[in-house]
Amino acid sequence: MYANGVRHFIETNDFTKQEILDIAYLSLEIKNCIKNGYNPPLLKGKTLGMIFQQGSTRTRVSFETAMEQLGGHAQYLGPGMIQLGGHETIGDTGKVLSQLIDVVMARVIDHQTVVDLANACSIPVLNGMSDWNHPTQEIGDLCTILENLPRGKKLEDCKVVFAGDGTQVCASLGMLCTKLGMSFVQYGPKGKWVQDALKIANDKRPDVTYGDYIKIMEENCKESGGSFLITDDRNAVKGADFIYTDVWYGLYESELSEEERIATFKDYQVNRELMQIANLGCKFMHCLPATRGEDVTDEVADSDVSLCWEEAGNRLTAMRGLLVYLTQYQRAAEPSELQKEAAKESLEKFMAERNII
Ligand code: CP
Repeated sequence: MYANGVRHFIETNDFTKQEILDIAYLSLEIKNCIKNGYNPPLLKGKTLGMIFQQGSTRTRVSFETAMEQLGGHAQYLGPGMIQLGGHETIGDTGKVLSQLIDVVMARVIDHQTVVDLANACSIPVLNGMSDWNHPTQEIGDLCTILENLPRGKKLEDCKVVFAGDGTQVCASLGMLCTKLGMSFVQYGPKGKWVQDALKIANDKRPDVTYGDYIKIMEENCKESGGSFLITDDRNAVKGADFIYTDVWYGLYESELSEEERIATFKDYQVNRELMQIANLGCKFMHCLPATRGEDVTDEVADSDVSLCWEEAGNRLTAMRGLLVYLTQYQRAAEPSELQKEAAKESLEKFMAERNII
């Protein structure tokens, strides 16, 4: 979305297929650059504010590391550490942060919070996960898929199967794959499909209109030539190039008991048998954290076909690319060397006149 003349990263569907690929390839180019010993100072002097309403390992660490590697700095604004959610409105918080820092990311409980923040900010806002989607995860996942394309296949030839609960990661993956012209399947139990999760969200927040995953995927497919299927039919796993999963904790409901969870999802566990139904050479992906023994077996998570560790590393890859992409207008507006020299002289003269050392 655009607000206050600034482009924000709230959902990948706001971006064209080409723009999403540009961000992913930029991310991979910077990754290669850093691997070869050159850290481009593209975020020199920039400060990122990281708002977290929930805990995080990958998102927090990768954003902070990305800023440092590219010459900037990150401030952790964890649960309860700032006024957000107190008597100061989200809008006022956004206006204040826009005066103090250059870019902000927010992991929020309600999607509307990050939308409201972006509407108030005159600096780019990145959605670090909400109850509706997880777009920075999508860019990292795309980087991982691009680096592991099956031999002889283009992105558009690939089939991605998400096994299990219709979480925001599942919905995000579906929106990404359909945007890019890929084939996407959610293989999960009835009642736990992405549209079921959306219904619960809409019932919980009738005052807010959540984007309809199915409509978005349908529109994407019309434009991209991709396809999607949501089913509890195990045959749909056949031909998968990537099998992806997430935890079974439920997205909008209070957690199921362990017994209920296992009874609901046990047939959708990613294990040796499920991997064997897919393509030969099918790779395993997981946004992490995993619940070993539930959503995935140790055998698959730690196998040669598991990309989940590489995928976690590509969160950093994606954060670097996203931060550079979204702050490009700030670099374009940077003062000239002449302006900087004049500012330095002016300050030195002011201090010398007052004997301030
Ligand atoms: N996948 C993911 O977002 O992990 P964190 O919750 O640890 O950030």
